[in-house]
Amino acid sequence: MFCVCAPLAQNHKNIKFLYKSSAEMGINMKKLRREEPCWCNSGKTYGTCHMEFDKKLEMYKKKFHKVPPRNIIKNEKQLQGMRDSAKINIAVLDYVAEHIHEGMTTEEIDQMVYEKTTAMGGIPAPLNYEGFPKSVCTSINEQVCHGIPSSNIQLIDGDIVNVDCSTILNGYFSDSSRMFLIGNVSEEKRRLVRVAKECVKLGLEKVKPWGHLGDVAQAISDHAKLNGYSVVKQVGGHGIGLEFHETPFVSYVIKRGTGMVMAPGMVFTIEPMINMGTSDIYIDETNGWTIYTDDEKPSAQWELMVLVTDTGYEVISY
Ligand code: MF3
Ligand code: CO
Repeated sequence: MFCVCAPLAQNHKNIKFLYKSSAEMGINMKKLRREEPCWCNSGKTYGTCHMEFDKKLEMYKKKFHKVPPRNIIKNEKQLQGMRDSAKINIAVLDYVAEHIHEGMTTEEIDQMVYEKTTAMGGIPAPLNYEGFPKSVCTSINEQVCHGIPSSNIQLIDGDIVNVDCSTILNGYFSDSSRMFLIGNVSEEKRRLVRVAKECVKLGLEKVKPWGHLGDVAQAISDHAKLNGYSVVKQVGGHGIGLEFHETPFVSYVIKRGTGMVMAPGMVFTIEPMINMGTSDIYIDETNGWTIYTDDEKPSAQWELMVLVTDTGYEVISY
């Protein structure tokens, strides 16, 4: 009942000081009692919502694992908002899949994405994001990502192109991308596109609560390497939901058992960039966005958005 800090309890100022210093140390603000409302704003009591979750995270933290901060753990209302946003994102990519063709310019893809997204009540997330000038990223062949649509760029026979769509609906973000084959694509490029898709599937299968992001990463990089390909290191996936890019940065080159612990309610993207040749990349200095492979060999990327559930995962956007 008496401890050395008991006298401080009489001094409100000192108690505040204690809370402040623990928050600064990265320890959660205030211990909730089980009957209090949960920190996730679910409306449920802490005891019936995230109390066990917090105990589990605390255990991982003590063993020096990286754990997700509370502000990236989504509640059911937020998840529904993200699913609704993703419904548009998926429909837009389906629409692109139906209409993309040889001879079309990437500007026309941009127009399709803008029209379809806004017609469904959404906002294309890339538009004006950090100064990005278009509604979608279109990355062809040796372009790794963040290709900018242009009326000067026409899709030609043999191209492989990534179309990366992101949508905002009622403040909730969704993000996914697919590869498209234009005309007669060489077998070696087809294989790259196929293996890149397999990488995402193998990574996805590693998503489960209390695993590590490194489990996803290693499944991806092992499969890429086994097929003679490399994985881009400097660009990766990200948390998403209330913002376009949330913590964590999702690397696909870290080892299994490392990286952030995956906890239920976390949503992030799986979007490895798989290169046929070197993993080295460079950025186009003239636009400040587009990333290319250093050796000009092709790169392929598929992206989906996944939620960690209590038992495994749910794909939110693809
Ligand atoms: N899905 C891509 C990403 O998360 C899209 C970026 S849009 C851009 O990196 F505006 F940043 F290019
Ligand atoms: Co993304």
